[in-house]
Amino acid sequence: MDKDLTLSIIKPNAVRNKKIGKIISVFEESSLTIKKAKLTRLNKSQAEAFYKEHVDKPFFDELVGFMTSGPIMVLILEGANAVEENRRLMGATNPAEAEQGTIRSLYADSMTENAVHGSDSQKSAHSEIAFFFDE
Ligand code: CMP
Repeated sequence: MDKDLTLSIIKPNAVRNKKIGKIISVFEESSLTIKKAKLTRLNKSQAEAFYKEHVDKPFFDELVGFMTSGPIMVLILEGANAVEENRRLMGATNPAEAEQGTIRSLYADSMTENAVHGSDSQKSAHSEIAFFFDE
């Protein structure tokens, strides 16, 4: 079985709301394995660099402000179809549209404070993992 990698971020609202354990439980009960994890924090220039593809979006400043508002947990998840599987576990970006039982349906507070980030392709998984980890 081919194993892929993806990057997950448990965002500042979920850390503040003490949902790290609940979200990790979702990963552990899935087909994915946690390969690496660390609690860290983004400064403004790091958050701007991580979300550079959204620089022209109206929500960019709010997103950067939120992502720098407190600690985050970043994880490398491994497994078959890791990118797609993590996106299924997260649910839709807009929590109002997230399927019941998904991480965002349970722990998102708003579209911006949507509890988790997940890579959207294998290519972005590769660059996002390199952004946070030495690999
Ligand atoms: P994420 O998966 O981290 O990728 C980009 C983030 O931008 C997204 O989750 C949301 O937190 C945020 N985002 C996307 N669309 C909107 C929007 N329309 N309004 C506010 N924030 C958004």
